[in-house]
This record gives sequence, structure tokens and C-alpha cells, in this order.
Amino acid sequence: MQITITEIAPRDGWQNVNEYIPLETKLDLIDRMFAAGIQRMQAGSFVSPKAIPQMKDAKELFASVLARYPERSIFALVPNLQGARAAVECGLKEITNVISVSESHNKNNTNRTVAESMAQLAEIRETFPNLALGLDVATAFGCPFEGETSLEALMGYLAQASKVKLDSITLCDTVGVAYPAQVKRFVEAVRRELPQVSLEIHIHDTRNLGMLNTWTAVECGVTHVQTSLGGLGGCPFAPGASGNTATEDFVYLLDKEGISTGIDFDKLLAAAVQMHSVVNGNYSGHQLTITNTVC
Ligand code: COA
Ligand code: ZN
Repeated sequence: MQITITEIAPRDGWQNVNEYIPLETKLDLIDRMFAAGIQRMQAGSFVSPKAIPQMKDAKELFASVLARYPERSIFALVPNLQGARAAVECGLKEITNVISVSESHNKNNTNRTVAESMAQLAEIRETFPNLALGLDVATAFGCPFEGETSLEALMGYLAQASKVKLDSITLCDTVGVAYPAQVKRFVEAVRRELPQVSLEIHIHDTRNLGMLNTWTAVECGVTHVQTSLGGLGGCPFAPGASGNTATEDFVYLLDKEGISTGIDFDKLLAAAVQMHSVVNGNYSGHQLTITNTVC
């Protein structure tokens, strides 16, 4: 069995770090992640610099990373057509458009209604028919303002979204409220309804359920898992959101379970330690604590 890890620290992790991380530091950390064997990465987002100042160097960052790693799967998050255009101009062949299931989070995150964002999604597809287009389903499991997401709400949203040709869908537990039975129910329903679409899972670790929920998705057949080096992560537009499932913790689990990722655990952990030393963010990676204790 093989699991593809999608590394998201450069987007979900760094977007939540207040102090600007110099571009050279970002590129050095990305080098370390790729050197550890990461094959797929959401390396940043094309968003308003007023909304997320940390992503203001996306153009330079992607230009450099795409030139140096042409064989890896590298993509960006965009909130709108303007972001999609900027990503394509940068040479990206894949993007993911974020739209929340809940109206209030979508408004907070993108200043648009869900219907307006869905219309933008269709416009992105029309404008770029050959682009690999994913959808980040924010608040797939619950919303900080509206509470738990029902399966009916999620499936209604996906029925609407999948009128547009999508290459992948990522179920995002934006605030970290999911629980294993819900993950199982939602993942099984989405795989049943949309078998042609590649499904990814993206879990925040707010309640220490990150590993369990991510593992539950794998047990339900999800083969693409988004995790963040050092557990760094959070959404500035979702109060209470904390770090993501840590890449090094999840790779450790997969290694022990005999599931291949192609990642060198020791190099990955060293990269996490390096990130911890240069990025002052919100961490939940447990291996880091162990390493620090041993050292
Ligand atoms: N990239 C860069 N700038 C963008 C942009 C993008 N994708 N989309 C809009 N802008 C700029 C516009 O050019 C405009 O600039 P100006 O004031 O210099 O003229 C300004 O932002 C306002 O444009 P508007 O379309 O009215 O945007 P808005 O103020 O309604 O904000 C978003 C909407 C989506 C751009 C903004 O909320 C955003 O970037 N959100 C990011 C969400 C996010 O990344 N969340 C975390 C991950 S889930
Ligand atoms: Zn997230």
C-alpha cells in the first residue's frame, strides 16, 4: 500500500505565522522537505496580501520552486479567478480553489457568499479548461460560527460544486472539530458519490484528534493525505483553529504500519527541527517534543 503525503506547511503553516519569514528561509525549508522525499506540496497561495501578508512573495517563491523541482507535484491555493490567473502566469499546472460549506466561514475567509464562490469556480474552469483544478472544501466537518456540518449540507455543496469538472476534492477540517465516526461517514459518502475524483483529507489537530482522524480516512481508502511539517498550521479566519496533523508524526505511523510514503523519516524530522528553530509558529508535532527532550 502506498500513501501520498501532500506537504502543506508552506501554505497552511506559514500563513498563520505573523512575522514575515524571509524568502530564502522559506526556500531552504522547502529544499529540506523535498530532500526528505516529499513528492507533493501545496507551496503557498495567491491571495490578497492584505488578507494574508505572509503569502506576498508567492510569485517569487513558486517561480523558484517550480524551476528547481520540475518533477514534483507542486500546486497553490487560490480564493478567486484573480488568484488562478496569477498562479497560471507563474507556470503552475495545478491549483486548488477554497470554498467553505458554511456561509459564515466563506464570508469571513473570502468576503463572498458560497454561491458567488461557486460561480467563480465555474469561471476558473471555463478560463483554464486544461488546468488541474482541485477544490478545498473548508469547514467540511464543522464551522467555528455554525457548528457541526451535516452530511446533507456537505453532499448538497458537492453536488453543486461538481457541476464543474474537478480533478480533486480535499475535505478540510478547518477548525479541528471532526471525530472518527464522522470522518468515516463523510469519506465513505463522498467516495460513493464522486468515485472519479481524487479525494484528499486535511485535518487540524485542535482536540488532539488529528492523527486519529487522518488515520481513519486512510482506513476508509483515502490515499492522499495533507499534513504539515512540525504540525504547523491554522486559519486566520477561523477562530480556534490550531495546527495540522504533523507530517513527521503521520509518516512515523505509516512507516510502523508498513505503509510506504517514499519519505526518509530521519531527514523529515531533521527538517521539522530546523523549521522549529527558524519559524515561530503554532506547533503540535509530538516527535519534535521527543527530539527536543532527547537532545
Ligand atoms: N491575489 C492578490 N490580490 C488579490 C486577489 C488575489 N487572489 N484577489 C483580490 N486581490 C486584491 C485586488 O486586486 C484588490 O486590490 P486593490 O485594493 O489594490 O485594488 C483587493 O484585493 C480587493 O479585491 P476584492 O476582489 O474586492 O477582494 P476582497 O477584499 O473582497 O477580498 C479575497 C477577497 C478572496 C481576495 C480575500 O478575502 C483573500 O485573499 N482571502 C484569503 C483567504 C485565505 O487564504 N484563507 C486561508 C486559507 S483557507
Ligand atoms: Zn487548514
